Amino acid sequence: MQAIIEIENLTKDYEVGFWRKRKVRALDGLSLNVNLGEIFGFLGANGAGKTTTLKLLMRLIFPTGGGARILGRDIADIAMHNQIGYLPENPYFYDYLTAREFLEYCGELFGYGQIERSKRAADLLSRVRLEEKKWDIQLRKFSKGMLQRVGLAQALINDPQVVFLDEPMSGLDPVGRREVRDLIAGMRQEGKTVFMCSHILSDIEVLCDRVAILKRGQLANVGNLDELRQRAGDRNHVEIVATGSDADTLRFHLPEGDQYQLTSTASGLRIEVADEKDIDEVITALRRTGGKLVSVQPVRQSLEELFLS
Ligand SMILES: Nc1ncnc2c1ncn2[C@@H]1O[C@H](COP(=O)(O)OP(=O)(O)OP(=O)(O)O)[C@@H](O)[C@H]1O
Ligand SMILES: [Mg+2]
Repeated sequence: MQAIIEIENLTKDYEVGFWRKRKVRALDGLSLNVNLGEIFGFLGANGAGKTTTLKLLMRLIFPTGGGARILGRDIADIAMHNQIGYLPENPYFYDYLTAREFLEYCGELFGYGQIERSKRAADLLSRVRLEEKKWDIQLRKFSKGMLQRVGLAQALINDPQVVFLDEPMSGLDPVGRREVRDLIAGMRQEGKTVFMCSHILSDIEVLCDRVAILKRGQLANVGNLDELRQRAGDRNHVEIVATGSDADTLRFHLPEGDQYQLTSTASGLRIEVADEKDIDEVITALRRTGGKLVSVQPVRQSLEELFLS
């Protein structure tokens, strides 16, 4: 596996206070690799140091210690930055420009000629699903969701091999979130490597190959979701939904023991079993009591639970 982003012992102290300066460690010895073609999720509570990490990688701020390489080159290498894209957390736009003008301007910064940059701007604006009639409206009149799309388009203007996204779904409604999600999934198809920070765990869960969890500036966990779940001691919980029987009757037909959790619901009955091997007993008991099986589903621990544990 080829490492595209290599972070080594990256550390950042901010100096705070005006009269009496003191140092606050925002990032503490982060080491992490992201491989070619991965969609990598970077998770952490507010203030965990996610944005700080991205800013360090983008060379917007400078590390107190450690370093990083992207595409095999040191982050101090300016030419390498032409091959990466970045969506900041709170994109600042020249808000008197229209969406189209802004993107063409970004293209100009990368040295594209007039024809090339207007082509790229139009391609990207339609790719991020900004309605064509909005292309020539000034950004100051845009909603947060529309700006977020322009931000994404901007991050892709140079057709980067690696894309860094700081909270790409923030400010979007459910439909917009879906679209951005599809867009990011599309980047994977094109073989791009994506490093994204998010609070929205469900988006990370469906999109990312691997995730890292940052806690107060330190790496708390890294791995693919299955690995992380195992490490967090995930149980083999299964949920069974049935109708036509009630908790008391069924309890009577089940072996003694606390491996079955029975709850009566409005439409019937919910049975949680601690292990898959106990499912058969429940089905047999249901049949005996005239109950009807509706569904059997494994209860996967979500990333959210994992994150909180
Ligand atoms: N310019 C700054 N000066 C001083 N402290 C800062 C500065 N920027 C960030 N910090 C502090 O560094 C820590 C990490 O902040 P950072 O913005 O990287 O967190 P984050 O994980 O991106 O949080 P969020 O989820 O809220 O975006 C926080 O405690 C924050 O207060
Ligand atoms: Mg942040």
